[in-house]
Amino acid sequence: MAASIFAAVPLSPPVAVFKLTADFREDSDSRKVNLGVGAYRTDEGQPWVLPVVKKVEQMIANDNSLNHEYLPILGLPEFRANASRIALGDDSPAIKEKRVGSVQSLGGTGALRIGAEFLRRWYNGNNNTATPVYVSAPSWENHNSVFMDAGFKDIRTYHYWDAAKRGLDLQGLLGDMEHAPEFSIFILHACAHNPTGTDPTPEQWKQIAAVMKRRSLFPFFDSAYQGFASGSLEKDAWAVRYFVSEGFELFCAQSFSKNFGLYNERVGNLTVVGKDADNVQRVLSQMEKIVRTTWSNPPSQGARIVATTLSSPQLFDEWKGNVKTMADRVLLMRSELRSRLEALGTPGTWNHITEQIGMFSFTGLNRNRLLVSPHLLPDPSTGPASNSPCFWH
Ligand SMILES: Cc1ncc(COP(=O)(O)O)c(C=O)c1O
Repeated sequence: MAASIFAAVPLSPPVAVFKLTADFREDSDSRKVNLGVGAYRTDEGQPWVLPVVKKVEQMIANDNSLNHEYLPILGLPEFRANASRIALGDDSPAIKEKRVGSVQSLGGTGALRIGAEFLRRWYNGNNNTATPVYVSAPSWENHNSVFMDAGFKDIRTYHYWDAAKRGLDLQGLLGDMEHAPEFSIFILHACAHNPTGTDPTPEQWKQIAAVMKRRSLFPFFDSAYQGFASGSLEKDAWAVRYFVSEGFELFCAQSFSKNFGLYNERVGNLTVVGKDADNVQRVLSQMEKIVRTTWSNPPSQGARIVATTLSSPQLFDEWKGNVKTMADRVLLMRSELRSRLEALGTPGTWNHITEQIGMFSFTGLNRNRLLVSPHLLPDPSTGPASNSPCFWH
C-alpha cells in the first residue's frame, strides 16, 4: 500500500483548556476542581441551566408555529436587533439613526471570525493582510489565531497588564496606541478582561478613546461577559456605548455563551456601527457573502431563546436576575477565597483577587509557586513561566 497522503501532517498539540477539561472528566479523584474553562458553576460545582432559559425552552417546544426551516443568512432578525440593543442601549442614537447592523454568529468566536474576515477583505480599502492587528498582552489566546486564520499577517500585542502592580498598564497601552500605524485594528475587551479580570475605569476608557480617535485606530470590541463583570448590563457595556457616543465606527462581537449559559448552542452576534445606514447596508451585504461560505446560515435554538427572552419585559427582568445571581456568586467566591488565603497566612498579597472582576483571576503565581496541570503552563522554550494565568469560576 502507498503511504497515506496525510503522512506529512504534523500532530498539533491539543487546545490546552479543552484538554484540561477532558483530563478533569477522566480523573477519579473526588476532590478534583476544574479551574480551567470559563464556565459558571453552582455551589455544587455543577453547570447551571438558567431558570429563564429552561422556561423559554419549554415555550419554544410548545410553540407549534415554529419549524426547522433555514434561517436567513444573517440570522434571526429579532435576535440580531435585540442583541445589538443590549450592547448599545435602549436609547442608542446610533440605533435610532439606523446605522447599526448585526450578524448572528456561532458564538462570540464566530462574530470575531466574520468581523476579522470582513476587515481583511474590505477595511480601509481592500486586502488588509498587512494592516496591524493589536491584541492585549495577555489576552484570550484565540484572538491571535482567529485574526491570523483570517489572513492578517501582522498581529502585534499592546501593553495591558502590569505584572509588578498587578493592574492595568495604562501608560504602556496609551503609548502603544500613540505609536501604532494609523488605521491599525485594536481588539478591546468590553468588560471582564480575559484573563486578567482587570478593566480600564471610565476615565481611562475616555483617554483610550481620545488617542484612538486622534490616531484613526479601529476599535473591535469583544464582549463575551456582559452582565458578568458587575451584574449590570448597562455598566458592563459602558465602554462600547461611550465609543459609539464619541462617533466611532466600530465592531462589537457579542457572546451569549456565558451570560445565558448557552455555551454549546453557539449563539453570538456581531454588532456593526457605521457612519450612516447606507454604509452599514453595504457592509452587511459583504458579511452575508462571508457567512454564506462559512456556515451558510446559523442555527436557531440559541437565537430563539435569547430573542424570546430579550423581547419580553418580564422574561428580560428574569434573565437580568439570573445574570445577577451568577455575578454575585463570582464576587462572593472572590471575597471568600481572599479571606481564607489571608486567614491561613498565605505568603503574598491577595487583594488582587477581589479587585479583579469577572470569571478570571490573574494570580501572578508562577511555575514554582503553583502546582497546576502542565497543559496550562507555557512552554518554557516559547513563553515566560512567570505570571501564568490561573482561571477560576
Ligand atoms: C474574551 C473572549 N472572547 C470570546 C470568547 C468566545 O466565546 P464563545 O464561546 O461564545 O465563542 C471567549 C470565551 O471564553 C472569551 O473569553
